[in-house]
Amino acid sequence: MKDLNFYHLTDLHYYANERIGSSGEAYDIKCQVDQKCMAESGAIIDSAFKSIIEDKETEIVLISGDLTFDGEVQSHDALKEKLNNLKANGKRVFITFATHDFFMEARKYTDEEGVTFLPKYTRAELRAHYNDFGYSEAIAEHENSYSYCVQLSDDVRLLCLNDDGDFDAFCGYYNDLLFWIKEQVEDAKKAGCEIFAMTHHPVVDPAPVYPLFSHKAMLGGYEFTTPYLADLGIRYVFDGHTHIHDINYIESKKGNRLYQINTGSLTGYPLAYRKVNFSDKGMDIRTIQVENIDWDLKGQDVLDYAKEHFVYMIKSVFESVENDYEKFIVLSQGFSGEGEKLRKVQPILQKVGKFANRLTMAKLCKLFGCSKYCAPAVADKRIVEFICDVIVNMYSGQEVYSPETDEYKAFMSIIKKLSKVIKLKDYYGNKVDLEELMAKTLYNDGIDAWNVLIK
Ligand SMILES: [Fe+2]
Ligand SMILES: [Fe+2]
Repeated sequence: MKDLNFYHLTDLHYYANERIGSSGEAYDIKCQVDQKCMAESGAIIDSAFKSIIEDKETEIVLISGDLTFDGEVQSHDALKEKLNNLKANGKRVFITFATHDFFMEARKYTDEEGVTFLPKYTRAELRAHYNDFGYSEAIAEHENSYSYCVQLSDDVRLLCLNDDGDFDAFCGYYNDLLFWIKEQVEDAKKAGCEIFAMTHHPVVDPAPVYPLFSHKAMLGGYEFTTPYLADLGIRYVFDGHTHIHDINYIESKKGNRLYQINTGSLTGYPLAYRKVNFSDKGMDIRTIQVENIDWDLKGQDVLDYAKEHFVYMIKSVFESVENDYEKFIVLSQGFSGEGEKLRKVQPILQKVGKFANRLTMAKLCKLFGCSKYCAPAVADKRIVEFICDVIVNMYSGQEVYSPETDEYKAFMSIIKKLSKVIKLKDYYGNKVDLEELMAKTLYNDGIDAWNVLIK
């Protein structure tokens, strides 16, 4: 197999405000309370695309959905111009679109008119709009789903799988698409080609807590579909949606491995995308971060700026759960929280929030009779700060609290006690080991989420 280089970007969530014209208080709040950098999205995309153009040895760019913030026609139009520029500079771009490109409510915010709704493209219109970015090169297309297959090089094919499903309760592959995938894999084998896939929703959990709290955000039926793909012979799937930067795998009952390369949202901290070299040695994956953007960062480094933005959002969640529950519900959507469920548990969550906002590691350890596990170095650390760290680390694929750290020892001593009273169950009612779940959330002892050669 000849070496093949490509980039993988996902969840651009571009909000083309230079054309939309949002402004005022509601827009400022909307921008502040999102994991992604909404206002800065265009500048971040421009910076990444500029770097990609400068890399003359790599012509292929994969973008796996959620191209726009919420499907604004203006954002799709402006993005197409940026993609045309990539193309004019010799790049071959392959996209899929996803629910944020047509299904959400596209909004404009102004003080004068409040929130107004913007026009969106239908899925059929998106297929036509992005024809030059994948579809025109397709060697096969599954018309019902807008999935397609392309020949990336003489001996490598790519399945661009659209997993929109019913857009809401089920984002996955219906049977006709599963049969089509099987045909494509068999065709590729007959032609002596390697084949891998990109899709939007995660086919493997990107963090152990993710399917527990956001089962609906996984690829619909992934428990059955992912082993099916593995047994067909698909070894690598590049996806997004979670905004978590992670690499993980499953092994089917027949012993076939499928690796998921889940890339974080380009426009949310850590502003990351991937550069990949696929060869006989395997899939060599490297993480690249956006280095600078054309934006007034008030003298800050762009990564510090994006991190601060994310942290502000998480802290706002804790503050609002205590003081402004409606705001909390709005914010929690960013973590796939469901509004109605959250309303039902409002009194409990408000109490928990009030309590959590005042806690330090030492106080919490004392409460659980675990003071001997709380080292002086972490005694004054606020629990909210610690949770912030854990969430940011999880999203950025840098779960750094190893069993040797003071934070791990103190926190896990509490979890150990809690696990005796809290009985967690997964979506199917199976028992979940809380200790194992939290240990893996604090520390990734699996595959390096950033840079790895998968053989
Ligand atoms: Fe997304
Ligand atoms: Fe998504």
